[in-house]
Amino acid sequence: MTTKITCAYLTIIVNTVLSNPSLMPVSIPQPEDATLNFTGLGQKYGHEVEEHSVVTEDGYILTVFRIPSKRKTPVMLMHGTSDSSDSYIIRGNRSLAIYLANEGYDVWAVNGRGNHYSRRHVKLDPDTDPEFWDFTFHERGYYDLAATIDYILKITGENGVHSIGHSQGTTNNLVLLSSRPEYNEKVKLFTALAPIAFLDHLVPPISLIAPHGPALNDLISLLPLKLDEIGGSWERNIYKVLCNQGIMSYFLCVLIGLFPGNGYDTKRLEPSFLPIIIGHAPAGDSKKGILHHNQAIISKRFAYYDYGPEKNMKLYGDVTPPDYNLKQITAKVALIVGKNDNLSRVQDVEHLRQLLPNVVEYHLMKQKKWNHLDFVWSNDMPETLFPVIFPLLAKYS
Ligand SMILES: *[C@@H]1O[C@H](CO)[C@@H](O)[C@H](O)[C@H]1NC(C)=O
Ligand SMILES: *[C@@H]1O[C@H](CO)[C@@H](O)[C@H](O)[C@H]1NC(C)=O
Ligand SMILES: *[C@@H]1O[C@H](CO)[C@@H](O)[C@H](O)[C@H]1NC(C)=O
Repeated sequence: MTTKITCAYLTIIVNTVLSNPSLMPVSIPQPEDATLNFTGLGQKYGHEVEEHSVVTEDGYILTVFRIPSKRKTPVMLMHGTSDSSDSYIIRGNRSLAIYLANEGYDVWAVNGRGNHYSRRHVKLDPDTDPEFWDFTFHERGYYDLAATIDYILKITGENGVHSIGHSQGTTNNLVLLSSRPEYNEKVKLFTALAPIAFLDHLVPPISLIAPHGPALNDLISLLPLKLDEIGGSWERNIYKVLCNQGIMSYFLCVLIGLFPGNGYDTKRLEPSFLPIIIGHAPAGDSKKGILHHNQAIISKRFAYYDYGPEKNMKLYGDVTPPDYNLKQITAKVALIVGKNDNLSRVQDVEHLRQLLPNVVEYHLMKQKKWNHLDFVWSNDMPETLFPVIFPLLAKYS
């Protein structure tokens, strides 16, 4: 009896503290850039920012940030798994969004359904309706990017956008352009930073965990946790404490946490930048999205979501889900890859490259240590990555 009461009491305390970072036992001095959102960062680094709401065909309401300009083509930026628009701006004066804006491009930074900026729907409540979380990278491509492109073209009166994606943001683009081919005309150039489609050449630890993904998921499903959402507010608050303790946190959160799956590159992600990352990521996503990538690892295919034979038959008319038809992607594509990227592996991107009909540029970053995260978080992007991206944008505008 006493144990039960104690447990209930503890649960209330833990929940209250986790949902109110200000009540955390440790006081965490945060750098300003950890606390500003996309709008605040844009203003701090010299630009006006607009906040737009884009409603998708299936009712999700997305926050899209714009740094407006009438001088050059609109550029749509799409983030990766459990990430947000902010990754494109948290390097401040050295970030892609600010560089694009300084160059006169009209910048549109998307937030995929389910991250904290886009946790809204015309009917569904993300806190109580599990259907809200019933999506993967498929829906973020098929619905979210489609709605955003149409919205941008409507507002600007332009006839096409530049699309830039990082990591799962590239998967979203590949889904859209292969399953709704009419969007190829609306994309002048799709620049894929660390492209993710095939995941056949992963290395430990992910290659060791992935085969057990479905079993792990069954196990987790037995726990009394609401886990349709990942990287939501309570997880963010745990990270805020764990990853804001100076050099110990760098060890725990970067060396042990981030680098094994993404590749080691301590030079480009310095300890003082960690609190700024933790102020913005993880940003929230669906668990189903991870399961969808996991299916790709196991099946060695880039295919629609596998619901099991019965539901597949109903949805797709076959017991196995169809592959995304990459041959439909007639838009110009630039693939940019890092040698030390342990998620977007060079061999897997070569595979993708062979199946895409219109690759106009394939670029292997020449920095030996360039990893998966360096495409958005590296401290030397203006010297390393932007000289690759900007000439392409100019050439295909
Ligand atoms: C960004 O931050 C500003 C200032 O705190 C706030 O007014 C605005 O509503 C925020 N925007 C979004 C989309 O969260
Ligand atoms: C960013 O760059 C602009 C233009 O070079 C400069 O005026 C501004 O002071 C810089 N902002 C910060 C916060 O460093
Ligand atoms: C990434 O993969 C390479 C093999 O290609 C390996 O040498 C390296 O240790 C892996 N892990 C990290 C964290 O870089």
